[in-house]
Amino acid sequence: MGDNSIDDTAARVQTLRSQLQAASYAYYVLDAPTLPDEVYDRLYRELQDLEAAHPELVTPDSPTQRVGEKPAAQFTSVRHNIPLYSLENAFDLTEFRAWEDRWRRQAPEIGQVEYVAELKIDGNALALTYENGLLVRGVTRGDGTAGEDITPNVRTIRSIPLRLAIENPPPVVEVRGEAFLPLDVFEQINRDRANHSDPPFANPRNAAAGTLRQLDSRIVAARKLDFFAYTVYLEAGEGESGGKSEHENPKSKPQNLKSPTSQWQALEFLKSLGFRVNPNRQLCQSETEVQTYFDEWATKRTQLSYLTDGVVVKLNSFALQQRLGFTQKFPRWAVALKYPAEEAPTILEAVSFQVGRTGAVTPVAELRPVQLAGTTVARATLHNADRIAELDIHQGDTVIVRKAGEIIPEVVRVLADLRPEDASKITMPTDCPQCSSALVRPDDGAVTRCINISCPAIVQGAIIHWARRDALDIEGLGEKWVKQLVEQRLVQSVADLYILSEADLEPLDRMGKRLAEKLVGAIAASKTRPWAAVLYALGIRHVGAVNAKTLAQNFPTVDALGSASAEDIETVHTIGPEIAQAVYQWFQVPANQTLIDRLRQAGVQLASTEAAPATGPLAGKTFVLTGTLPTLTRPEATEIIEAAGGKVTSSVSKATDYLVAGEKAGSKLTKAEGLGIAILTETDLLTLVKAA
Ligand code: IVH
Repeated sequence: MGDNSIDDTAARVQTLRSQLQAASYAYYVLDAPTLPDEVYDRLYRELQDLEAAHPELVTPDSPTQRVGEKPAAQFTSVRHNIPLYSLENAFDLTEFRAWEDRWRRQAPEIGQVEYVAELKIDGNALALTYENGLLVRGVTRGDGTAGEDITPNVRTIRSIPLRLAIENPPPVVEVRGEAFLPLDVFEQINRDRANHSDPPFANPRNAAAGTLRQLDSRIVAARKLDFFAYTVYLEAGEGESGGKSEHENPKSKPQNLKSPTSQWQALEFLKSLGFRVNPNRQLCQSETEVQTYFDEWATKRTQLSYLTDGVVVKLNSFALQQRLGFTQKFPRWAVALKYPAEEAPTILEAVSFQVGRTGAVTPVAELRPVQLAGTTVARATLHNADRIAELDIHQGDTVIVRKAGEIIPEVVRVLADLRPEDASKITMPTDCPQCSSALVRPDDGAVTRCINISCPAIVQGAIIHWARRDALDIEGLGEKWVKQLVEQRLVQSVADLYILSEADLEPLDRMGKRLAEKLVGAIAASKTRPWAAVLYALGIRHVGAVNAKTLAQNFPTVDALGSASAEDIETVHTIGPEIAQAVYQWFQVPANQTLIDRLRQAGVQLASTEAAPATGPLAGKTFVLTGTLPTLTRPEATEIIEAAGGKVTSSVSKATDYLVAGEKAGSKLTKAEGLGIAILTETDLLTLVKAA
């Protein structure tokens, strides 16, 4: 290859990078997409291909460098050049005035001032260092003095520029702001966790913190963290720590850069550097304007796509900020005006220990009922043994409970000073509260478990799970019946459901003949539920509805799955080693093998009944769908193709046999035409399915 073509390639790489950077900025920072996804993907792939062929052309700020790296063994601790202070809280206007009085006493000559009111984002503070415009380091707040270097994770956050968007940036720039998870992403993560039988994150802030500290940045990349910037330090590399404002070193600033002299300008400046800055901010000329802003957002904040817990009020002028400086912990020039926390004090009357269907034992605080965020709260989760130890919680303690959004209330703090004398300390039991067998806790896990598969709590949980709509869908088999069935030892395993007679059920409290008849019918009907639903219903760890479907597609019979090795199972796309291990191990347990045999005898479906894909009329053919079809939705079209043995993929390649194109078909159509791939209309597709 001659020099010329290398130059051409380098130029093309450069062009692609700028185009992708501009599109990504428009999408993630401005919320105003400029390129259709498909075009972005095409350019991205071109860049990826060129970089693969010419690794020497890869730069750290290339858009391809956001995908995460191999897991790190651990994070290193990094001292902050300038500590990350926290903010003093004010819970109402009186406290806000007290704060104002304090700073005014310190600077009595100051007359009217401007305040900047910003939303307080309920996330995790990050400090980002840019050297010569390039992102070199991202560090968590930690204890404020030192945090953890999580640079690979920070690089995956799309709204954080890998390179500052200005010419001739100062040699060192430090940007601070809040990383957070949008609420919909948080909910999605918790749904996925539930599907994998993992405990949910208590709130978006914890989920964001957990995500930021993930050792595998590829997982972080998938979690869609976002970031709002609010502080910028120029020349931070030479900055002194503590007590100093950031803008006090005018000598060393590059000539062409107009440094901000106020917080309001700093926010605009951050925007010009390419950061996402929260648009909900206001320059206030008086305390009344601050109050109005605070009141306005008290309700509007519930409509935001992320959580805010207050308003941060900062003196606008940097000169004044510098004049006031810091206390040991806080800047004197800023205060967090907090919305009333959904927290309340109450008394811990007892702790009960619940055993879930996976055997996980959860400590639950039984509380003196208290009004909280519009509801009465009488119970709250204490999560696990570590949490109990951390809280050092005792019987009769005064505790603070919190409820945030839809999330189960939790005990967040204990007021140890108010502890009654001789109060006994709460500890995790060593034996199962339901069946008295010894509990186990693996060294590496937070969860304490009962591992007795005949434990009534586990059996009860397993049956309720079995009867769920998306599992065996046994209508009418609710908790109150399950409880009685297990207590009266009529059912000790889900297989026992299939030998229940009306005569067994009728004597149950409030059951009667008619209900018994119905329930027996519903149980019998469940035998025709598909294999994927049965597999999900078995409640194997990490096998939620989605994984069960995938596994059932790849292992069409229980015997195929039961005899597969963990390695075999892991070859399935989207099934990772942890899931594969869990499935493999489940089938090794003799009691589980017995369960499968009994279910087989009962006539429960343990194999797929759908036509084996390889024999359908579209067997072996690969389809891509594009545009809007006249009558079918994409899932419907996909189902028709798959039912006929075909496969649907998302992008056109040489391996594609047919492109099914509807209205407004875009680049996929062009590409397919270029590759000479057969193009079908919806009618063509339907004809093809019938004709074969
Ligand atoms: S200013 C010294 N502005 O709140 C200045 N902080 O409770 C301190 N936070 O640690 C930071 N939104 O993590 C500032 N608009 C905002 C903020 C904000 C959220 C967080 C930040 C800080 C914590 C203090």
